[in-house]
Amino acid sequence: MPDPPKTDSELQPTADGSLTAHSARFGQSYGSRFGAATQARQVFVEGSGTHLHPAPKVLEVGFGLGQNFRATLAATAGRPLHYLAYEFDPVGAETLRQVAFSDPVAAHPGWQALMEGWPSSVAVPDLKFDLRLEDVTLAALPQGWASAVYLDGFSPDVNPEVWTAAFLGRLAAALQPGGVLVTYSAAGHVRRGLQAAGLEVERRPGPAGKREVLRAARPAT
Ligand SMILES: C[S@@+](CC[C@H](N)C(=O)[O-])C[C@H]1O[C@@H](n2cnc3c(N)ncnc32)[C@H](O)[C@@H]1O
Repeated sequence: MPDPPKTDSELQPTADGSLTAHSARFGQSYGSRFGAATQARQVFVEGSGTHLHPAPKVLEVGFGLGQNFRATLAATAGRPLHYLAYEFDPVGAETLRQVAFSDPVAAHPGWQALMEGWPSSVAVPDLKFDLRLEDVTLAALPQGWASAVYLDGFSPDVNPEVWTAAFLGRLAAALQPGGVLVTYSAAGHVRRGLQAAGLEVERRPGPAGKREVLRAARPAT
């Protein structure tokens, strides 16, 4: 039997059976070792209400291993999803393929198309996926567009540029009225930055391994 294809990152199992990988560049794992798929679903998809939205428009900071994207695809089946992901250091296609290997949503036509053309944007029925291979802090973000912002950079100590008050303000402006920004960090400076940007910030209980996470909503009017 041939050897499995080599990946450019070392995959790691997490507590819920899903896989993550270690980033040599940032010295951290892409997803929570307490459950990468669970964190994606609870913190990002359900935390933002995307699983209930009739036509979600998601802006993601840090596409990484596509865990949040796959959790969103699974939760929005049958509804139109527009997903705008920023990533300045994309992993290789083989890493993505392997990390999603046992995820049933890997059979989704959108994920299949993404794998065929990675790294590029994809359009299939009910899914418009725009991949921007650039530094999100320098990007021209859409204004008043997103029903949800997933802020999922590495932690503020190693990836500070995506957690500055100025950048949080730009993310807040990307939200449509009533839109929700979610993130796994409940650090005080992140909370204050989101409040200063005019969002209504709420601390919520986190998934295993995380006491609290943040949900920050743009007022509806
Ligand atoms: C914690 S991982 C994201 C995990 C991902 N959301 C998932 O579901 O698998 C953080 C990601 O943010 C990306 N990133 C960090 N800073 C960035 C920046 N300034 N611009 C674009 N991408 C960035 C990293 O390369 C990494 O892939």
